[in-house]
Amino acid sequence: MTAFSVSIEQGVAILSMDLPGEPVNKLSPGVVAEFKDVFFERLQRDDAVRAIVIISGKPDVFIAGADIDQFLTIRNAEEGTAMDQLGQELINRVAACPKPVVAAIHGACLGAGLELALACTWRIATDHPKTQLGLPEVQLGILPGAGGCQRLPRLIGVRAALDIILAGKSERAPKAFKLGMVDELVHPAILRDTAVRAALRLAAAGRPRRHHRGGLQASLLDWNPLGRRIVYRQARATVLQKTGGHYPAPLAALKAVQTGMERGMEAGLRVEREEFGRLAVSAVARQLINVFFATTALKKDDGVPAGTPAKPVQRIGVVGSGFMGAGIAGTAAVQAEVEVRLKDTDLARVGKGLKLARAILDGRLKRRRLTRYQYERMTALLTGTGNWTGFGRADLVIEAVFEDLEVKHQVIAEIEAVVPAEAVIASNTSTIPIARIGEGMRHRERFLGMHYFSPVDRMPLLEVIPAEFTDPTAVATAVQFGRRMGKTVIVVADRPGFWVNRILSPYLNEAGLLLEEGVPIEVIDRAMTDFGFPVGPVTLLDEVGFDVATKGGGVMHQAFGDRLRPSGVLQQLVADERLGRKNGRGFYLYEDGKKGGVDESVYPIVGIKPLAGTDELMVRNRLAYAMLNEAALAISEGVVRSPRDGDIGAIFGIGFPPFRGGPLRMIDAESAKQAVNVLEGLRLAHGDRFEPCEALVAMARDGTRYYV
Ligand code: 3HC
Repeated sequence: MTAFSVSIEQGVAILSMDLPGEPVNKLSPGVVAEFKDVFFERLQRDDAVRAIVIISGKPDVFIAGADIDQFLTIRNAEEGTAMDQLGQELINRVAACPKPVVAAIHGACLGAGLELALACTWRIATDHPKTQLGLPEVQLGILPGAGGCQRLPRLIGVRAALDIILAGKSERAPKAFKLGMVDELVHPAILRDTAVRAALRLAAAGRPRRHHRGGLQASLLDWNPLGRRIVYRQARATVLQKTGGHYPAPLAALKAVQTGMERGMEAGLRVEREEFGRLAVSAVARQLINVFFATTALKKDDGVPAGTPAKPVQRIGVVGSGFMGAGIAGTAAVQAEVEVRLKDTDLARVGKGLKLARAILDGRLKRRRLTRYQYERMTALLTGTGNWTGFGRADLVIEAVFEDLEVKHQVIAEIEAVVPAEAVIASNTSTIPIARIGEGMRHRERFLGMHYFSPVDRMPLLEVIPAEFTDPTAVATAVQFGRRMGKTVIVVADRPGFWVNRILSPYLNEAGLLLEEGVPIEVIDRAMTDFGFPVGPVTLLDEVGFDVATKGGGVMHQAFGDRLRPSGVLQQLVADERLGRKNGRGFYLYEDGKKGGVDESVYPIVGIKPLAGTDELMVRNRLAYAMLNEAALAISEGVVRSPRDGDIGAIFGIGFPPFRGGPLRMIDAESAKQAVNVLEGLRLAHGDRFEPCEALVAMARDGTRYYV
């Protein structure tokens, strides 16, 4: 079976890549060998071939990069470097081909796929939303190792290239065209013909002359070695600030770019392959690659037996037009492109909700993620009602009203009275058991939980929660719809706090207890940002809101007893009319919505004098291990279906550091035995809430792990 087929048109060889039995084209050593054979031994040598077009036979992928599966087989840095060198040699030879080579790009053109395209003489891309060009390597903990750190800055300038490389970004074709990564933008229907024409033109007229873009500023900063020094310095500072030093790949990529631009391509390529070898076997890359495969696997897992049908969803109803409801409505319109009817008790509220929902579309228009035409079309999908008009045609209704069981019961009864018999009904509760909300329904088999995270348009996770009575079809419908909304979806058990809030609860409680003991606010937060969280727990409390956190904390305390007893700090603050960021009165100061320093006036309200000289490792261990222990307990109770779901839920739901792979991967990495030891130490010093859970103790005793 071969991945390549060739047809010749007017002296132009069209080399089409279609890896048999695989959903995407990817470059492995075997494919590279085959490519070399066809490209260099046949087409380059054949005098009848004047130019070559590289195109994909896959519907929505050009080339998705190097084969990531292969990275897991690399045993040491030398092997990694050798594997990378194979790719570099191939791509260097394409760049040196005496005949013009045109890349005809439709769909994902990523990593080594883009690096191959960059070595071509000319790049044509379709203006289709599926066409994305990018270098996502640093998101996998590695760097563009097949010349990407060399050819991209030479093509579009150092600043634009670093912007893509250091963040692991992908750009849609129109933006890539604007940046100069792509030479022509066409409709998919004419991609092939346009590529053949371009190939003939280049064969007749020779290689195109390329001019530096961007005027005076670009000549000073992109094309001048002194100016570039400033760019490198700034890029380094930004990387260190963003990664907290936890992710070595962006710095390695920066070194490869800098070396290549200042000391020549060969020196740059050497850095690329050496760094690739070093990074490919690093613990960080292994964890990030695990996250990639876990996320990919979740895209295909509906959380119900394979073959369970899902109902088609064309129209949804959202009940409750507050921040959550509006967020769900706006995100559903823009991502899933379904008709959305937003309902609240009166039209003034509905109007406010629609405005919030539209703000999501406005943001996308402003950032040019939507064309004006798409924006108008999607805005028209959003409508509101003060009564139940339109709900008679809804396929899915999501309730996002106040967190009060009685209110929810009433709303669900009203929904059931107006929707079609086959519609799925979901509650976006974060604390109330789904089984309780579904009590008294006429057809509760179609009812479940869909727990979104705030802000809905930005948070990537959705928890879908079936109760015991929920029909698997309803689950499949909710999961697939969540995915259409752009979410990574995990199916979790109907237990208090579900998964994310369950493991968050002891962590936030511990932050409150540390505060009560006088640990300064900034010390608590710094301990966890140093650990790798995007924000610390005190900042998170400000974001969540003290009223919401107190309510949630109360529910968890009631369900699980003393182990999850919250500190009294938040209640004292709520009594002082402090609610967190939303009313501008939290642990931190807020001015015009911007977060400032710690609000020192909080300490006297809760009767605390901040201590000097706290042991930061102790702070970190108390917070982190409270969460790890709870995760171990919750998974032993079956709250998530697999360690994979638990880890992805923690990473996407709370921002658990991806380079640690999630709480369960972290336990594996440190060993259950070590986790039990740390917890026993904490228990002696700080109380029984740190008692290691039975499951963890058993794992420590038996030497077992979550992942094999
Ligand atoms: N290597 C191995 N497998 C890959 C792959 C890759 N580069 N890209 C995708 N796949 C696999 C997925 O694991 C999945 O496998 P499965 O069906 O067995 O579960 C299958 O292809 C389909 O993938 P998705 O479900 O993700 O399909 P989508 O259509 O949603 O997305 C995509 C397609 C945009 C290409 C997405 O898969 C993606 O982003 N892939 C990764 C791209 C990437 O990171 N490339 C860089 C690789 S590193 C590199 O090139 C190093 C070089 O610089 C030396």
